[in-house]
Amino acid sequence: MVLYVVGLGLGDEKDITIKGLEAVKSSAKVYLEFYTSLLGGSTSVERMEAFYGKQLILADREFVESGCEGMLEESKTMDVSFLVVGDPFGATTHTDLIMRAKELNITVKIVHNASIMNAVGCCGLQLYTFGQTISMVFFTDTYKPDSFYDRVKSNRQAGLHTLCLLDIKVKEQTIENMLRGRKVYEPPRFMTVNQCAEQLLEIEDIRGEKVYDENTLCVGMARVGQDDQQVITGTMKELVSIDFGAPLHSFIICGDMHFHELDFFNSFRINKENKFAFINWLNAKQFEAIDWLNLKCGDQLLAQTHQPKLYGNTSAFQKIYKLLKSMNNNNQQEEEGLSQLFNIVETISP
Ligand SMILES: C[S@@+](CC[C@H](N)C(=O)[O-])C[C@H]1O[C@@H](n2cnc3c(N)ncnc32)[C@H](O)[C@@H]1O
Repeated sequence: MVLYVVGLGLGDEKDITIKGLEAVKSSAKVYLEFYTSLLGGSTSVERMEAFYGKQLILADREFVESGCEGMLEESKTMDVSFLVVGDPFGATTHTDLIMRAKELNITVKIVHNASIMNAVGCCGLQLYTFGQTISMVFFTDTYKPDSFYDRVKSNRQAGLHTLCLLDIKVKEQTIENMLRGRKVYEPPRFMTVNQCAEQLLEIEDIRGEKVYDENTLCVGMARVGQDDQQVITGTMKELVSIDFGAPLHSFIICGDMHFHELDFFNSFRINKENKFAFINWLNAKQFEAIDWLNLKCGDQLLAQTHQPKLYGNTSAFQKIYKLLKSMNNNNQQEEEGLSQLFNIVETISP
């Protein structure tokens, strides 16, 4: 007898693998875990049941966190499938379940699938250069946990990107309903990219260790792996006010970027007017300088040099930036500075 833990992927009911579908079809009972993640908007339990040819038993938070006792007992005498959105190892809850099953000598077979942990690569940042993932929970007036800040700090000190997984509140009770033992649940809530960016900035304000700021480059993503997936890059401040639509959302705080990563990043840039003539592949933290130069003269330079991009990894680039910045709105000096810039543009090409 086997307990199959089957990853469903991120898209819709059809993202299940052939191996996963075979496990489901051969199982006497099929459970669906549906509180740590969601499939695409139009995927309903009915559609899943029709496609898998099986009735699904819904496993909510209480079911999973209180031990899944019944399901584990059943797995001793019949094949059972436990379906998880994403990959079975994409959430810590499922690791606990698998350990418990092993302790009871139940044979467990895992069927892997795509997870948000690897699908985030679609924004062009290298999966190899991500640091620790953080979870961002909904703040309340009195509860603003900030332990994530230290992890973002160590990631950024090492130049690594940080994936932020965002809170999901399903089947939550108000304290009053809980105290009165009333099984009345609040409507589901899913944290948005905007809320995540706001909370990050709020904690930077409180901690003040300059781990990141409004200008830090970030990626907002929604419904990854689904037909209407959305990836938008910009500064943390820009992402506070962009509507990403339906859940689920994820957020990335960029670390240092390789020039290939920056190219990809720019292709998702919210501010399309900003052409990014200058790309700096050494240190994305110098974004402010690049942004300023782009705004000042990016278009002119692109037109003049007929190059799609100019790379700013030399000391000449730094010198020009400092020169232009020091001109304090003196138009004539600025014009001279710009013409100097045009003259040495070859030296700052890659
Ligand atoms: C606890 S994790 C579960 C991950 C899942 N088990 C997996 O392997 O993908 C749930 C969080 O991942 C992120 N997430 C999951 N699927 C997503 C998707 N398709 N698009 C964007 N974010 C997603 C959201 O931040 C969501 O709140």
